[in-house]
Amino acid sequence: MIDLHSHILPGLDDGSPSLAESLEMARLAVADGTTHMACTPHIVPGMYENGSANIARAVEGLEQALRRAAIPLALYVGADVHIAPDLPEQLALGSVPTLNRSRYFLFEPPHHVLPPRLEDLALRLINAGFIPILTHPERLTWIKANYDVVERLNAIGCLVQLTADSIVGAFGRTALYYSEKLIDEGRVDIIASDTHGATRRPPGLSQAVAVAAKRCGEDEARNMVLKRPGEIL
Ligand SMILES: [Fe+2]
Repeated sequence: MIDLHSHILPGLDDGSPSLAESLEMARLAVADGTTHMACTPHIVPGMYENGSANIARAVEGLEQALRRAAIPLALYVGADVHIAPDLPEQLALGSVPTLNRSRYFLFEPPHHVLPPRLEDLALRLINAGFIPILTHPERLTWIKANYDVVERLNAIGCLVQLTADSIVGAFGRTALYYSEKLIDEGRVDIIASDTHGATRRPPGLSQAVAVAAKRCGEDEARNMVLKRPGEIL
């Protein structure tokens, strides 16, 4: 399986705090059947000042450590990109990375507030040639009152990434409800782990795939962790 959303790089954000933890996360991912993983630390201006250059260096460092530890997990550069007004320019300049230099990138709206003009920003990104992958809309607290925004973002061309823990119920009933609704409406393109550690929010996709398969069928569930993420990379 291919996991497009992870905070496995050590020391760059609120994910893995150390190389030892990153290696343990990688071991767990591989044991669960993950073969490829995008390393997607947060980019939040003023909070997590990551960019293409330091992320690429961190990926190289972790790749070397994985080789030494004989852990067969292929890594790719990416980022969990918080909304910012100059995002189309930053992506075009390459200072903010897409997923493995594709047109696709993880697009993270704020969790608790629906920003004004979110749809405008998404449209500008799409018109600039990029494809936003909306990260875990099922977990956003504003989804309840603003489901129509998610529908419209999806309609204009944003993909939807569900988080594995949501569909298995680990984020509570609301996240589970919207996970099921999004799957049932055929809106979910990708399931990813959004792993943050080896014990807190560990990696793994297989449980989520099994649950999703019951709603949308085995083929479609596998597309969400194999075919589509593979094509994106
Ligand atoms: Fe994330």
